[in-house]
Amino acid sequence: MRKLWLALGLIIGLGGAGLLVSSGPTIAGFYADMVLNSKAEKRGMPPVVFPHWLHRIEFKCKVCHPAIFEMRSGSNDIDMSKIISGQFCGKCHNGTISWKPVQCARCHSGQPGLTTGPLLGVK
Ligand code: HEC
Ligand code: HEC
Ligand code: HEC
Repeated sequence: MRKLWLALGLIIGLGGAGLLVSSGPTIAGFYADMVLNSKAEKRGMPPVVFPHWLHRIEFKCKVCHPAIFEMRSGSNDIDMSKIISGQFCGKCHNGTISWKPVQCARCHSGQPGLTTGPLLGVK
């Protein structure tokens, strides 16, 4: 009997999670790596892949949202001169909080053709 309740709990639990995941891009983006490619590929660089969850382990949401990034995929007008002058990624990737933005491929690591949004394509 106890096992049955456990199984039921699990099914209801998973169902709930399913609802969350299917409720829109917001929750999908929360877990996924984010692709940023409004300009990169047009300007000869591979798309940027931003590991959202990895950053989330180190920082609370409010460190970045909305102070550094609008919480909507593609809504931040980011370019390298802003990053190098300490905005957006450059708030931390500045050689103090984290590494400097000199090794291009560390951020520009996406396959050609990826579109801005969650990497898993769960749009
Ligand atoms: C280190 C900075 C950082 C932290 C910490 C962070 N995010 Fe983000 N988040 C980003 C960036 C960068 C993007 C992509 C913005 C873009 O595409 O212009 C993003 C995008 C998003 C989006 C938009 C997804 C979409 O598909 O439109 C949501 C929602 C979001 N974050 C929620 C969160 C939540 C909730 C947390 C905490 C659990 C969090 N973020 C922590 C940097 C961060
Ligand atoms: C709030 C500070 C903060 C912001 C903003 C931030 N990062 Fe990071 N990022 C970190 C830290 C800390 C690490 C962990 C590595 C370390 O300890 O230096 C990291 C790690 C990474 C990694 C992991 C891979 C590796 O080689 O270490 C990538 C890729 C990355 N960041 C890209 C970005 C991009 C792209 C942006 C902007 C869209 C961004 N980050 C914005 C702090 C930040
Ligand atoms: C800390 C992460 C990071 C590193 C390291 C990095 N970039 Fe970027 N870069 C970005 C982000 C984020 C964007 C905005 C992507 C978009 O929306 O298209 C971007 C955009 C660009 C663009 C298009 C916009 C513009 O400024 O013209 C070019 C070109 C570019 N990067 C070149 C480089 C080169 C060259 C290097 C190495 C010297 C480099 N990037 C290193 C994160 C990074």
